[in-house]
Amino acid sequence: MRQSLTWLTFMLGLTLVGLLCYVILYSLMTSRTHFSNTAYLEYQGLGGESALNPQHAAWSLAPEPWVYEMKTRRRHLKDACSSLKSPKKDGVPVRNITTEFMFVDERHRLLYCAIPKVGCTNFIRLMYGLTANADSDGYQDIGAGEVHAEYRKYLTPLNSFSDFGIQFRLDHYLKVILVRHPFERLVSAFRNKLERHTILSFNEGTIIAKYFEPHATKATIRTGDGVTFEGFVRYLNFKAAKDPDALDQHWRRFFELCNPCDVHYDVIGRHETVERDVNMVLKVLGVADLFHYPRKNMQHVSSADLWKIYFTNVSSSQLTKLWAFYKLDGDLFNYTLNSLNFVVKKRLRNEHMAVLT
Ligand SMILES: *[C@@H]1O[C@H](CO)[C@@H](O)[C@H](O)[C@H]1NC(C)=O
Ligand SMILES: *[C@@H]1O[C@H](CO)[C@@H](O)[C@H](O)[C@H]1NC(C)=O
Ligand SMILES: *[C@@H]1O[C@H](CO)[C@@H](O)[C@H](O)[C@H]1NC(C)=O
Repeated sequence: MRQSLTWLTFMLGLTLVGLLCYVILYSLMTSRTHFSNTAYLEYQGLGGESALNPQHAAWSLAPEPWVYEMKTRRRHLKDACSSLKSPKKDGVPVRNITTEFMFVDERHRLLYCAIPKVGCTNFIRLMYGLTANADSDGYQDIGAGEVHAEYRKYLTPLNSFSDFGIQFRLDHYLKVILVRHPFERLVSAFRNKLERHTILSFNEGTIIAKYFEPHATKATIRTGDGVTFEGFVRYLNFKAAKDPDALDQHWRRFFELCNPCDVHYDVIGRHETVERDVNMVLKVLGVADLFHYPRKNMQHVSSADLWKIYFTNVSSSQLTKLWAFYKLDGDLFNYTLNSLNFVVKKRLRNEHMAVLT
């Protein structure tokens, strides 16, 4: 009797322990499944999404529709890349595909590729806050000049790490890229760097005026002020045909700046939705209560059509050439020339009218 009671207690204990183990194992497994469902379904080293450390980031912290949208954008990029006949980069040292435009936030395990004229100043401003190089209340107030000058030394480039360190960060950090219609970016660069008096308008502007403007005034040739967008386009086409690698970073192509077919970005933010996309990144990192995408100096997303007007005087042949050069960026991130149709049609109609009258 006494013996069977001990036996019963033993069995009961064993069952309880078994049950406990099952519960623990099950919850571990499901939490892992849950995570892998959203974060690394397609994880394949460098070729896949980052295996995020749940202590630092989780897709589940962001609304599902947005996570799904990121997935759609990644798939589009992946398909576009696989249809490219680019040389296979397998076996290329990871350092070779790491550009000088990739920056790291160690504190939140974030990797950002900074494309100039695509919300880059605002994102870098945010990086200074995230990396605690600026107060979480003060990062918004860092001036545009300081972002790229005094503060620049606080920005950690990915290529400052060892090869192992680069690979590790590409595999485990949340990788973010912000993109924009390639032509809209060109207009933004033109407005910002050539239309106003800047160093670039002095350097490139004088060259454009001298060689690519049929009716440049003497003053324009001397100072670079007053070059037209058509002149800029002729200049771009000339440079692109001659030496695409030597293009200024403000109009160099996305795929050269950020290697999007080799570095598989987790978040592809689009200029049209940049505020939402970056704030979602902050959610995924679990810091949305502390930080948000700086609204300061927001380019006017509302005037999204303004850039198209700049193309009204660009000839069809120059337009075709220019698109042939930037089309790859468009293909990778699903931007087409359709949006320019109305401008082209309007011009053709005007040209037709001119012929008639
Ligand atoms: C990687 O970069 C180094 C230095 O620029 C170069 O010498 C080497 O040939 C590159 N390797 C490959 C496989 O592209
Ligand atoms: C197009 O050219 C005309 C005539 O030179 C000029 O008045 C107009 O401002 C130009 N439009 C744009 C958008 O550059
Ligand atoms: C690509 O862009 C078109 C037109 O803007 C849109 O209808 C389509 O859903 C986009 N595709 C992807 C994969 O995002």
